[in-house]
Amino acid sequence: MQNKITVTKLLNMKKKGEKIVELTAYDYPFAQMMDKSGVHIILVGDSLGMVVQGETSTLPVTMDEMIYHTRIVSAGAKNAMVIGDMPFMSYQASTTDAIVNAGRFLKETGAAAVKLEGGASVSHLIKAITEASIPVQAHIGLTPQSVHQMGGYKVQRNEKKLLDDALEVQEAGAFSVVLEGIHAAISKKITQSLAIPTIGIGAGPDCDGQVLVLHDLLGLNEKHVPKFVKQYASLGEQARKGISSFVEDVQSGKFPSEEHCY
Ligand code: KIV
Repeated sequence: MQNKITVTKLLNMKKKGEKIVELTAYDYPFAQMMDKSGVHIILVGDSLGMVVQGETSTLPVTMDEMIYHTRIVSAGAKNAMVIGDMPFMSYQASTTDAIVNAGRFLKETGAAAVKLEGGASVSHLIKAITEASIPVQAHIGLTPQSVHQMGGYKVQRNEKKLLDDALEVQEAGAFSVVLEGIHAAISKKITQSLAIPTIGIGAGPDCDGQVLVLHDLLGLNEKHVPKFVKQYASLGEQARKGISSFVEDVQSGKFPSEEHCY
């Protein structure tokens, strides 16, 4: 518990200029690896829908699915802070929905905070959730749950709106804010204007921290790789090779060999 990452530690990291590392995870083994590698925040993102469930957007992901994945991630995270991502329609319809569903993450999964998408338009929800003693990470800019309203996954360039959104979510009580798909110069201005840490994804180098989707980082997502992603491994390719070799070995009778028999 002593080394557990807390909201206070994250705020101090911003003050000291120490970069915050956030990554998404959806299961126990990867959560354990991240925890041991020094990742500060593990986000159980609703990107689950696209990288694990094979959906074309994050919209179909349900609360129960998020609860399940957040619980198995929490089991592997000793020091990292675990954040549960509130899925589409788990908070938009009413303040009561927002508090009850945010509360489920803390009560049922071991997460220490929740994330939700939107700026000024959801600041009343952020306020209500934080007043219920549930820390909130906000998420502004390109917000994937609004894909239909935005007309696609588009980089956001309205500087005044983005700055207003950032200030509003801070004022509402968010302890940090994800900046997604925002021009680097605007992210820099936002980061300098806020007391809370900014965590960028496709938002340039001047944010207080960076977050990526695990499957993009490790090359497990072999579909479209966005420009802002740096791939640190090609696990998809390796996995395919391994599986193909198994298929060949079974079909040719090479496996199991004597060494694998009792
Ligand atoms: O769902 C997710 O993985 C996210 C990150 C991309 C920030 O919201």
